[in-house]
This record gives sequence, C-alpha cells and structure tokens, in this order.
Amino acid sequence: MNCLFFFIFLISFLLSQSPTLSFDLNFCWRFRVHIINNLSLNNLVIHCFSYDDDLGRHELWWGEEFTFKIGQRAVGDTRVLCNVTKFGSNHITSIDVFTNSIADKHCCKTRQCYWSARDDAIYFSNNDKNWNRWYSWTSV
Ligand SMILES: *[C@@H]1O[C@H](CO)[C@@H](O)[C@H](O)[C@H]1NC(C)=O
Ligand SMILES: *[C@@H]1O[C@H](CO)[C@@H](O)[C@H](O)[C@H]1NC(C)=O
Repeated sequence: MNCLFFFIFLISFLLSQSPTLSFDLNFCWRFRVHIINNLSLNNLVIHCFSYDDDLGRHELWWGEEFTFKIGQRAVGDTRVLCNVTKFGSNHITSIDVFTNSIADKHCCKTRQCYWSARDDAIYFSNNDKNWNRWYSWTSV
C-alpha cells in the first residue's frame, strides 16, 4: 500500500520536474470566454445560451467585449451557442463559442477562448495574439 503511494508520489514529482510532461497534469476544466466587437462600423449584438442558462442579449460597442466564466461538466456535454448579429445588417450567425471539443483542443493551454467579430468573419484565438478565421457571416 505504502509502496503504491510512494510510486504515485514519485511519478508526480518526476512529472512536475519536466516542463513538457507537467503540461499534461494541468487538467483544464475552468475557462473564460471572451467575445469582442472588432467590427469597423456596426455594433455587435450577441445572445448566448447553454443548456441551462440564457446569458441574455447584449449589444457591444466598438472594441467592447462580453466575457463569462465556464466550467466543463464532469459528465456529459457542455455547450454555449451564441447568436451573433452585426447590428443594423442582415448578417447573423449562430456559433459555438464553447464546447468540450473546442475547450480540449483549443482553449486548454491558456484556459481562455477569445472570439473576435470582424467585418469579414469571426476569428478565434486562445491567447489574444494569434488569430484564426473560424466562422463566416451568413445573411438572412
Ligand atoms: C479588437 O478590439 C480589442 C478591444 O478593444 C482591441 O484591443 C484589439 O486591438 C482589436 N483588434 C482588432 C484586430 O481590431
Ligand atoms: C438564435 O437563432 C436561431 C436561428 O436563427 C433561432 O431559432 C433562436 O431562437 C435564436 N435564439 C435566441 C436566444 O435568440
């Protein structure tokens, strides 16, 4: 029994000494999601909701951001969907801003998911520096 604990301790110690391996010990389940209005002309209207919560409708001015914290559920799916509209236009889109898969694959490293609404598309970043084009606008 004690041997087992020692073994676990030893492994944890060794992992904590290795920068590459210790990364895997950072279980990430708490996140912050940011949605930023980077449109040049329009306000951005967002309405986000998860299975349990309606986060309400928000109108963001140029440069403004809407942010919330979220934890992955221990069991089952976590998903936050947002309806995003360029105010005063017919450009609207429904986007997943948080899912288990986005969290695990893309936000885990920094525990931040950034979404930037721009004129041409909606971009993603996990560090507010390197952005990738992610979702297109659709017209209704
Ligand atoms: C988007 O808005 C944020 C917050 O105002 C600003 O810091 C950032 O530079 C803007 N990015 C672009 C690409 O305009
Ligand atoms: C989001 O958009 C979809 C599709 O346009 C619509 O069916 C749904 O009612 C909208 N939800 C909210 C909360 O605005």
